[in-house]
Amino acid sequence: MNGSAVHGRLEGKVAIVTGGASGIGASAVRLFLENGAKVVIADVQDSLGQSLANELDSTNKHVCYIHCDVSNEDDVANLVDTAVSKFGHLDIMYNNAGIMNGSSESILDTKKADLERMLGVNLIGAVLGAKHAARVMIPNKKGCILFTASAITKIAGIATHSYAVSKYGIVGLTNNLAAELGSHGIRVNCVSPFGVLTGCDHSQEKVRQFEGFMSAVGNLKGGVLRAEDIAKAALYLASDEASYVSGLNLVVDGGYSVVNPTLMRATMMR
Ligand SMILES: NC(=O)c1ccc[n+]([C@@H]2O[C@H](COP(=O)([O-])OP(=O)(O)OC[C@H]3O[C@@H](n4cnc5c(N)ncnc54)[C@H](O)[C@@H]3O)[C@@H](O)[C@H]2O)c1
Repeated sequence: MNGSAVHGRLEGKVAIVTGGASGIGASAVRLFLENGAKVVIADVQDSLGQSLANELDSTNKHVCYIHCDVSNEDDVANLVDTAVSKFGHLDIMYNNAGIMNGSSESILDTKKADLERMLGVNLIGAVLGAKHAARVMIPNKKGCILFTASAITKIAGIATHSYAVSKYGIVGLTNNLAAELGSHGIRVNCVSPFGVLTGCDHSQEKVRQFEGFMSAVGNLKGGVLRAEDIAKAALYLASDEASYVSGLNLVVDGGYSVVNPTLMRATMMR
């Protein structure tokens, strides 16, 4: 793959994808590149990020890797400045990097250090990414800022409190930035995924168990959500097809968060 457009929906655009070495971010990197964008992979997993960049474009003319801890403002400023000096401008800033910490935890067991770590990466990292992207987008009077939030911003009780506040914060940030940056021609949106198996080296048995569980609990039957599906939602928001879409939390959960199955189940059990 040398970055030449297969589908061309991002032809001529330059994108940064944070957390781009793995999972949803790596899928977005591939899809953005296939669609004609030049892409900067930003992550803290240096060997994984660099080998993805080399696999996709051995010349590093269309895709490159830059080390960036999104919770470190100097790293984020350097990321944006390096992307602009290498590729000339920045059109899409996809703030996707994030960490998770299990599925449930009582407020009584919530540790301040865990909360600070979660907010530092998931929320402060997102604010810093938006700030430095806006710094270079405002003079151009255009741009697209994206975040990965989570479907837990639409349905309660399926994540820890620290993860939940970090992701609810992203939705609030999306809306507030859409208000400020609209006057500069910059669109701001987030994508909110349902559960996707990401990360490396899962055994076939683990994949089978996870996908079996998700398809059993999911609302939309006949398929399983994959990282590529989230990347496709991000591609839509990044492309000119969404040229008047801003302030949207695009939930990709097969309708899970709008369905309450308890009444239906209780009726069937009677
Ligand atoms: N997988 C899911 O079910 C799911 C559901 C909802 C939301 N999300 C969100 O999607 C995003 C991507 O997660 P994923 O599932 O692809 O996980 P992943 O672990 O495969 O990818 C996350 C990437 O972020 C990177 N990262 C972590 N801390 C970082 C930091 N400080 N600076 C830069 N990069 C950092 C990691 O190295 C990793 O490459 C996250 O924001 C996550 O909260 C995931």
